[in-house]
Amino acid sequence: MTLDLFDPAELPERQALAPGAVLLRRWALPSEAALLEGIEAVVAAAPWRHLVTPGGLRMSVAMTNCGPLGWVSDRSGYRYQATDPESGRPWPAMPAAFLALARGAAAQAGFPGFEPDACLVNRYVPGARLSLHQDRDERDHRHPIVSVSLGLPAVFLFGGQARGEPTQRVPLQHGDVVVWGGPSRLRYHGVLALQEGRHPLLGAQRVNLTLRRAG
Ligand code: SIN
Ligand code: FE2
Repeated sequence: MTLDLFDPAELPERQALAPGAVLLRRWALPSEAALLEGIEAVVAAAPWRHLVTPGGLRMSVAMTNCGPLGWVSDRSGYRYQATDPESGRPWPAMPAAFLALARGAAAQAGFPGFEPDACLVNRYVPGARLSLHQDRDERDHRHPIVSVSLGLPAVFLFGGQARGEPTQRVPLQHGDVVVWGGPSRLRYHGVLALQEGRHPLLGAQRVNLTLRRAG
């Protein structure tokens, strides 16, 4: 038998990436339809936009948020806020399917009791990438990050506690969920430039949900 490392059917369902960090392959598939419906509702109320970094660069990933708090970036810095700066209105409510998925995946990864109050929704089109960064704008780093991949595959970079440390390249497919917390909570991570392709449900894009306890 030949083992194709990139055939998801041959890979284990649960892969430890580091202490406190785990990939739950295909974990989101059972809620795929509800998640896609939720994304549509969120984007209808708070459309995709390209944020600007504090240094003035336009991000290649388009973003929006749902839940009580949303992550934003502009010339004055990165922060969470309760209202969408584009509309002045509160962010759309977090769809029940997002909440249920985040709770379940966090518990499965060893973080029971996770109650996210923020969901950053990222959209990658071919060529879009996210450079190495830490998620550190949340108030209490005892809560994990739950990250859900939908649509086109991507390569997730998972690094160490310092920017210069080696990074693992983790191929992520539609439905995969990565949870990182505890000793891995502040690890650097990013996403390589998305390759061209077409996903049967999402077309030429990847949508990622990152659920956090921000406040
Ligand atoms: C993020 O770090 O906010 C997103 C990670 C991803 O798109 O997989
Ligand atoms: Fe991140």
